[in-house]
Amino acid sequence: MAGSSAAGEFPKFTALRALTGSATPHVLVKFSGADASPTVTRWADLLVCEHLALECARTLPGIASARSRILIQAGRTFLEVERFDRHDRLGRSPLCSLDTLNAALLGKTPGDWPTFADALVAAKWLGDGDAQRRHHLWWFGRLIANTDMHLGNLSFQPTQGRLCLAPTYDILPMRHAPLAGGELPTDEVEPPLPLPRQRAIWLAACQAAVEFWSRVGADTRISEGFRRLGLEHGQRLQTLAEQV
Ligand SMILES: Nc1ncnc2c1ncn2[C@@H]1O[C@H](COP(=O)(O)OP(=O)(O)O)[C@@H](O)[C@H]1O
Ligand SMILES: [Mg+2]
Repeated sequence: MAGSSAAGEFPKFTALRALTGSATPHVLVKFSGADASPTVTRWADLLVCEHLALECARTLPGIASARSRILIQAGRTFLEVERFDRHDRLGRSPLCSLDTLNAALLGKTPGDWPTFADALVAAKWLGDGDAQRRHHLWWFGRLIANTDMHLGNLSFQPTQGRLCLAPTYDILPMRHAPLAGGELPTDEVEPPLPLPRQRAIWLAACQAAVEFWSRVGADTRISEGFRRLGLEHGQRLQTLAEQV
């Protein structure tokens, strides 16, 4: 049985591969099941969504994200993500998840990413710029219906006694993931709106989210039903952006 050998929840494996133009041979590969059931199809759709979300996140100011590509083979969809905690063939680069940083430095009860980023700035571990970038990414995640922004899904790289935001990973519309029993969620998703002081960041994140949903709507690797849902989300956000 496939497990999640590299932590996280999705079945995945690590690999070394040679690919012209890539920054590193080290990759993480997540994959869907091989049958055509609605549940497996939705997970496969979400892997393509993760690839598209990583590309769209890069359009946010100062945000880097893991390079990825989709491969479809023997009925399965594979998401291959280049690792940023490796360099050359044998080198390891330091990476600390927010979860670990909280346990070691803050000791706060679990909360959302912006709260923790602000606490790291107050404790002088993180610069203001990185906290701002974090807010953009948080809103982008919310507007693409990513309900899985827990403290293990955000990491930092220690550099010269300070922390820098690591490239983004594991961002996808988890709100649309199959439920534990295999059913697909059907209820309406309401996009969150900003407070007046959050408007500028919301608008920038919304632009990237509209691009994300319109790419979901046009990507033929995604099932027809989910493409339609993507187009609807994109149009809804576009209308909201004109009214906010
Ligand atoms: N591109 C990457 N480079 C290095 N480490 C990564 C990368 N992507 C994910 N990770 C690490 O692997 C863990 C599992 O990956 P993730 O994408 O979060 O999987 P899941 O969807 O199963 O939660 C993450 O919590 C993070 O620590
Ligand atoms: Mg994860």
